[in-house]
Amino acid sequence: MTTPLPKTADLDALIQAHRTLPGATLPILHAIQDAWGYIPDEALPRIATALNLSRAEVQGVVSFYHHFRRTPPGRHVVQVCRAESCLAMGADALEAHVRAALGIDVHQTSADGAVTLEPVYCLGNCACSPSIRVDDDIHGRMSPRRFDALVAELRATSGKGVTA
Ligand code: FES
Repeated sequence: MTTPLPKTADLDALIQAHRTLPGATLPILHAIQDAWGYIPDEALPRIATALNLSRAEVQGVVSFYHHFRRTPPGRHVVQVCRAESCLAMGADALEAHVRAALGIDVHQTSADGAVTLEPVYCLGNCACSPSIRVDDDIHGRMSPRRFDALVAELRATSGKGVTA
């Protein structure tokens, strides 16, 4: 994840770079979240103006897609797959372990800002269910023990107090 407070000029440049794409709202929102990790409040009126939409219309799109975050994520984002194959292979129990280990629920960030936990609905890694994604890396055949080791590795490499 990058800077949590985007500069207005950077937001505008990104909006302008995507505003002529078909159905530009979604590409713009994806680009903003890719750049800053979330959709800041100040982006909504700027997108609305650029696309000749109301702010409510843009807000409606953001609210409809749970993929879009409205607050900055933690330093690491952990996503536990909640789709069919992973559920059949124990994703419920795995997610319960992850929540307990991190001390947070889904859509929450640990108090130290280290980890945001999110659900995801298929990572394209069904043959290795249950699967999780940690930042950009997908991990299959996940178990509570392997998750604890992954978090310990995050803690060791980032040195930023991931709790598990
Ligand atoms: S169902 Fe979990 S990776 Fe496809």
